Amino acid sequence: MDNKAIGVVGAGTMGQGIAQVLASSGRQVRLYDVAEDQLERAEANIGKGLARLVDKDKLSEDERNATLARLGKTTSLEALADCEVIIEAAPEQPELKEKLFRDLSSLSQDAILASNTSSLSLTRLAAVSERPERVVGMHFFNPVPVLKLVEVIRAEQTSDATVARIEALAEELGKTAVAVADSPGFVANRLLVPMINEAAFLLQEGAASAADIDQAMKLGAAHPMGPLALADLIGLDVCLSIMEVLQDGFGDPKYRPCPLLKRMVDAGYLGRKTGRGFHIYE
Ligand code: CAA
Repeated sequence: MDNKAIGVVGAGTMGQGIAQVLASSGRQVRLYDVAEDQLERAEANIGKGLARLVDKDKLSEDERNATLARLGKTTSLEALADCEVIIEAAPEQPELKEKLFRDLSSLSQDAILASNTSSLSLTRLAAVSERPERVVGMHFFNPVPVLKLVEVIRAEQTSDATVARIEALAEELGKTAVAVADSPGFVANRLLVPMINEAAFLLQEGAASAADIDQAMKLGAAHPMGPLALADLIGLDVCLSIMEVLQDGFGDPKYRPCPLLKRMVDAGYLGRKTGRGFHIYE
């Protein structure tokens, strides 16, 4: 790939992580968000993440400054017009993403439009875009700087050239790509989120405490964190919406969301981001 700038749309947790790994790899990044204060928070969080690496002697102070200098912030979508690839990491709202794909595809003739969606259909996003063959899924995992996987999701309309360029970009970022068809939940979430949902059923039934459910999977299956702690990291609202996508997409009762998970979302207990989920965070 030539070394043109990469655009990132959305400066939330995933957008921040994606922008960080892009800038760390030597790419110029244009991070877009509608909210100026969110961009400021994103820059501060990325700066803190890089500072931790400096503290651990994994990055020099100069490299940290150079990485931050490659991170551009903008509230204007037009600023992404000459990017080689634009990675959309906006909230998982279908209408919002469809509008973004319409707008981005009319803005740029050449850019590949990649979505970090965790559950929406890439084929539908491609269908609203002016260049559907350039639309593809590029799904990262949280925390993005740590986890090596990128799912590359091919919409019905995606060209081989588009898939090849996104696989090359993933490799450039030090990630490993797996190729996935446009199927609800793709691969990793289809396995992970029903496990989380089942853990919520165990808790609801009183079969074990939250701490013991998590301990069981950490020590019994060598998972780095238990399913309920993982739900708190991902966000309970995100987990619920992925279960709903699986249930709608497959029509199979095995994907019914756990009532406890629904109640917790209704209560606003969304996990780490609200300070309370299955566990409490100070
Ligand atoms: N950003 C950058 N680096 C981070 C980080 C973050 N947010 N969180 C942890 N790290 C780094 C730490 O600095 C540390 O680095 P070193 O080894 O170089 O010192 C390393 O990761 C390990 O961290 P810790 O020692 O603090 O803690 P840990 O060993 O318990 O690891 C964890 C924490 C990386 C989060 C680990 O528990 C883990 O991998 N958990 C599973 C996460 C997972 O499954 N994510 C997928 C969610 S699904 C998803 O994202 C897709 C979706 O669509 C919903």
